[in-house]
Amino acid sequence: MSRILTGIQSSGKPHLGNLLGAILPAIELADAQKEPAFLFIADLHALTTIKDPQQLRENTYAVAATWLAAGLSPERHVFFRQSDVPEVTELAWYFGCLTPYPMLANAHSFKEKSENLAEVSAGLFTYPVLMAADILLYQADLIPVGKDQKQHLEITRDIAQAFNRTFGDTFKLPEPVFREQVMVLPGIDGRKMSKSYGNTLDVLGDLNELHKRVKRIVTDSTPVEEPKDPEKCIVFQLYAAVAPSEETEAMRQRYLQGGYGYAQAKEALFEMLKSRFASQREAYAAWMSDKDQLEAILHAGAEKARAEAAKTLALVRQRIGLSVHSYLSSRVKPIV
Ligand code: ADP
Ligand code: TRP
Repeated sequence: MSRILTGIQSSGKPHLGNLLGAILPAIELADAQKEPAFLFIADLHALTTIKDPQQLRENTYAVAATWLAAGLSPERHVFFRQSDVPEVTELAWYFGCLTPYPMLANAHSFKEKSENLAEVSAGLFTYPVLMAADILLYQADLIPVGKDQKQHLEITRDIAQAFNRTFGDTFKLPEPVFREQVMVLPGIDGRKMSKSYGNTLDVLGDLNELHKRVKRIVTDSTPVEEPKDPEKCIVFQLYAAVAPSEETEAMRQRYLQGGYGYAQAKEALFEMLKSRFASQREAYAAWMSDKDQLEAILHAGAEKARAEAAKTLALVRQRIGLSVHSYLSSRVKPIV
C-alpha cells in the first residue's frame, strides 16, 4: 500500500502542458492505488510569487476546478488547499531549525534568483522546507513530480533523515516518481509551454480564445503545395500529444505528401482539442460557476488532511520536547 501525494502551485491557470504532463498522470497513478491519495493546491508556495489576493484566489479556484474536471474524485482521495491545514507551517518551522543554511543556498529555486538578493524573500529561500513539511506531514510514500523537482525531493529526504537521527525514528523516507515524459509540450511559440512565457493553450477555457491562440502557433513559411516535416512543426507535435495514434499517423502522411497547409493543420488541431476536452471543458465551467461547491469540497478535504496532520504533529511535538496536551486541546475545526 502506497500513499501518493503531490501538490501543484496555484501560480496561474493550468494549461495543456500541466494537464498532460502533471494532472492526468497524477490522477491515473492515484486511482491505481488502494489507499486514498493526498492531492493539494500549493497556495502557500504560490505566495512566493503572487501578491495579489484576488489573483491568488482565482488561480486557486481554477486549479481546483481543473483537477475536478480532469476526473479527480474528492470522495476517494484527499483533495485540499495547502493553506487550510495550518499544521504544515508549524512543521516547516521545526524543519527549518534542522536545515543547514548551505542546503538551501544550493537549491536551484533559490540559486536561479540569487543574483538579485534584495528580491529574494525568506519565503522563497525556505521554499524547500515547506515542501518537505507538505510531504512528511502526511507520511507519504510516493511523490509524482516533474524532473525539475528532483532536488526538492532530495532535500525532503535529508530533512526527514536529520529529524529521525536527532529525535528518533519518526518519518518515512518518501520516493519521487518522475514522469518519464519523452516530450515536454511546446507552447505556441515553440518554447516549453509555460505560464511564465505566456505561450500556453488553455484547453478548458473559452473556445473562441483557444481558436485564436491555435491560429497564432508559429510555423515556417513552406508553401501549401510542398511536403512538410511533421517532426519540426509545433502544430503537429501538439496534435500528436492529444490525438489517437491512427489520426496522428494520417496527419503525418498529409504533411509528408504536400498539398496540406499549416492553416488546415491548425484547424484540425483546434477541432481535436475541442472534442478531446469537451466534457472536461463543460465540467470546468460548471465548477467555476459554483465557487461555494468548490469551497465545500476543499473544506471537506482539509478536514480529512487535518486529521492526519494532527497525528503526525502530536508525535513530532512529543519527540522534540514540546507540549502535546496544549496542542491537542487547541485543535480547532477549520473555519467554514
Ligand atoms: P509552468 O511552467 O507553466 O509554471 P509548473 O512549473 O507550475 O508550470 O508545472 C507544474 C507541472 O506541470 C510540472 O512539474 C510539469 O510536470 C508539468 N508541466 C508544466 N509545463 C509542461 C509542459 N510544457 N509539458 C509537459 N509538462 C509540463
Ligand atoms: N514545488 C512543486 C512545483 O512547483 C509544488 C509542490 C509544493 C509540491 N509542495 C509539494 C509537489 C509537495 C510535490 C509534493 O511543482
